[in-house]
Amino acid sequence: MEAIKLGILGMGTVASGLINIIEFNRNKVVNSLNKELAVSKVLVNNLDKERNVNLPKEVYTTDAYEVINDKDAEIIVELIGGIDPAYDYIKSALNNKKHVVTANKALIATHGEELESIAVKNGVKLMYEASVGGGIPILNTMKENLSANEFDSVFGIINGTTNYILTQMAENGLEYEEAVKEAQRLGFAEADPSSDVDGDDAAFKLSILAALAFGQRVKVEGIPKEGITKISKDDIANAKELGYNIKLLASGIKKDDKIELRVHPAFVPVDHPLSMVKNEFNAVFLKGNAVGEVMLYGKGAGSLPTGSAVLGDIMYIVKNMDKSDAGVVGSKKYRVENKAVKQYYIRMTVVDKLGVLGSIASLFGKNGVSLSSVVQRQKNGHDTVPLVFITHEAERKNIDAALEEISKSKVVSKIESIILVENFK
Ligand SMILES: NC(=O)c1ccc[n+]([C@@H]2O[C@H](COP(=O)([O-])OP(=O)(O)OC[C@H]3O[C@@H](n4cnc5c(N)ncnc54)[C@H](OP(=O)(O)O)[C@@H]3O)[C@@H](O)[C@H]2O)c1
Repeated sequence: MEAIKLGILGMGTVASGLINIIEFNRNKVVNSLNKELAVSKVLVNNLDKERNVNLPKEVYTTDAYEVINDKDAEIIVELIGGIDPAYDYIKSALNNKKHVVTANKALIATHGEELESIAVKNGVKLMYEASVGGGIPILNTMKENLSANEFDSVFGIINGTTNYILTQMAENGLEYEEAVKEAQRLGFAEADPSSDVDGDDAAFKLSILAALAFGQRVKVEGIPKEGITKISKDDIANAKELGYNIKLLASGIKKDDKIELRVHPAFVPVDHPLSMVKNEFNAVFLKGNAVGEVMLYGKGAGSLPTGSAVLGDIMYIVKNMDKSDAGVVGSKKYRVENKAVKQYYIRMTVVDKLGVLGSIASLFGKNGVSLSSVVQRQKNGHDTVPLVFITHEAERKNIDAALEEISKSKVVSKIESIILVENFK
């Protein structure tokens, strides 16, 4: 039987998942393709490392170009991560007329448009399903099965680390730092979790999702982002009491000729399907103008789930090698706006004195922000008291202007938090 040869860059978590699935699902793969998949060469850093895959020693090399230039390899699978040197390797592979599969969100978000043009020019395919949502088949579903739709919005919980941390804070009463340590102990967070908790990872993925949903490339630098490091147990408790869960959302909303993209913690109503996505799980909630609401849910990371998405792309390429792709995603031009006209939750600590509430409410009013509800919490034991406000819909810049004035008031000790309340409209 004919074998399609794969050249693989990297043999870490995802690549070893890929190799193991090819082995334990061999019958399924061969029956579906009518071809075998075989590995020609594998790039690694360290030739002496023990690996939990069943590959002969001779396939390994530390020379990337032995993999990329191997004339037998028809598909190059990039699983080393990061932008450099992956960018040069993928460009060379595409220019060598090899199909490429990658799971690299940073690279696709940054250079996807250019790499897709190179692929089209060379008549080969570039696929990257695993770059968003790990094992969840979101990108190809949007591109293929939902291609009859214009998308009105896309909301995702697309970072498992932060979702794990927020779930542990909400369900087990952990403080932020404790939840981070627990996530690290279980392998859900890196030793340095900043790219997850600061929202960078989710912003890369949102940039890729937005290109597919709205046909427009927006670089991560153009996506406002806010991480979860300032979320406290108090905010989580208040959210619960008001009927919400706090989630790190990546959101893309289209209105007329404008799109708004952002990554931010949000109050999500407890009865919304995204509220039920817990721990390391991910989900993407889409609104198509024909299909309506669709949610895809699953494991956003891990060796086998991510390997499953990579193998799905490889199998698609093998089945469609002779067909040319329609072209580059991302040719539309919307105005990218960041007004964030939403309701907001605001928590502050104020002096416990008569008339304080009225003076704060009037500063909100002066800046065009009206209040939907106010909750005065138990006294802190000192002379201060926590106040929680939910505003009516207002533009974020008005909220910021109001809080700038309020923070200067002598009766306000501290503005503790501002969190957007998402109504999914
Ligand atoms: N892990 C996940 O669950 C997950 C989920 C979704 C997407 N992804 C994406 O998948 C990609 C791979 O992630 P991973 O978790 O599998 O990474 P990983 O476990 O760190 O593995 C990286 C592999 O690449 C090799 N490597 C890295 N840089 C190299 C270089 N410059 N030259 C030669 N070899 C190099 C390493 O070699 P040695 O083994 O010799 O050190 C290792 O085998 C990344 O783009 C990541 O963002 C990962």
